[in-house]
Amino acid sequence: MGAKVTVVGAGFYGSTTALRLAEFDVFDTVVLTDIVEGKPEGLALDMNQSRSIEGFETKVIGATTTAEGAGYEATANSDVVVITAGLPRKPGMSRMDLIGVNAGIVRGVAENIAKHSPNAVIIVVSNPLDEMTALAQLATGFPKHRVMGQAGMLDTARFTNFVAEKLAVKVGAVKTLTLGSHGDTMVPVPSRCTVNGKALSELLSQTEIDELVDRTRNGGAEVVALLKTGSAYYAPSAAAARMAKAVIEDSGAVMPVCAWVDGEYGITGVYLGVEAEIGRNGIKKVVESALTDSELSALKAAAEAVRAKQADVQTL
Ligand code: LAC
Repeated sequence: MGAKVTVVGAGFYGSTTALRLAEFDVFDTVVLTDIVEGKPEGLALDMNQSRSIEGFETKVIGATTTAEGAGYEATANSDVVVITAGLPRKPGMSRMDLIGVNAGIVRGVAENIAKHSPNAVIIVVSNPLDEMTALAQLATGFPKHRVMGQAGMLDTARFTNFVAEKLAVKVGAVKTLTLGSHGDTMVPVPSRCTVNGKALSELLSQTEIDELVDRTRNGGAEVVALLKTGSAYYAPSAAAARMAKAVIEDSGAVMPVCAWVDGEYGITGVYLGVEAEIGRNGIKKVVESALTDSELSALKAAAEAVRAKQADVQTL
C-alpha cells in the first residue's frame, strides 16, 4: 500500500501544507480534515484539479470530522499525521495565550488520530508548540520518538532570511540555527551561523546580530500584526511538509525540530527544540552540537520554562 499522510485542520496552514505534500508527489494519498463541513472536501477537489497542470499523481481526499470522532475513518492507517488544528493568534497575543483553548482541541484530535492510525508519526504545529507537542504525546500514548513538533525549521528559516536580506546575499549562502522553544525562550545559535562558510560574527556586529535574533524571535508576531487575522502559513507549511517528507523517505536528514530530550545537553525529560535525525519512525536521534556557554545556558533556561508549562498541559 502506498504512503498516506493526514493533515488535520484545513485552515491556511493545513491546506497549504496539504498542497505542498501533494505536490511533492511522494505520497499516494493526502487526507485533509476539518470540522467545517465541506471545507476539506472542497479544497481537496480544487487541489486534485491542479494535478494535471502541476504534474503530480497524489490523490487528495477531504473529510469533515467532528470532535466526537466522526469522519476519522478517512484518516485510517496514515503513516504521518500533521496536526494544525486549533486557533491562531490575534494581533497582540502570545502563542501561550492559546494554551487553554488549543489544549482541548489538540487532545481530542490526538485521541482520534491514535485510534485510527496507531502507527503514525505525528508532527504537531498547533500553538503553543512545545506544550501542544507534549500534550499530543500524552493523549496518543505513542512512543516519544513518534511525536514531534515543527518550530525550529521555521525559526531557522526566518533567521536565515533576515541574515540574507541584511547582507544582500543569497539565502543559499546562509546557514543559521535556532533551538529552544517556539516562543520567548527561542535560542538562536549565532556560533553555528555562517555566510559562505564565514562566521556571522565576522560579518555583523553583536548589536546587528541581536537585532536579527530579536526579529526572529518575534517573527510570527510580526506576520500576525500585518495580517490582522490569522498567522503565518507559507514558511510554516514549508517546514512541516519537509519534515513529513523526511519521515516518509526515511531520509535521516538532521533538522531543528521539537523533540523529546532525555539526557542530551544535560537536559532530561522535556519536549524542546533541538536538532534531530528524522526517519521513518520519527526521531532517530537527537543530535547534540557544540554550543558556547551562553547558548547552552539559554537552552537550559528554555528547557525549564517549557517544562513548567508542559506540566500544566497534563491537566488541561
Ligand atoms: C508562527 C506560528 C505559526 O511562528 O507559530 O508563525
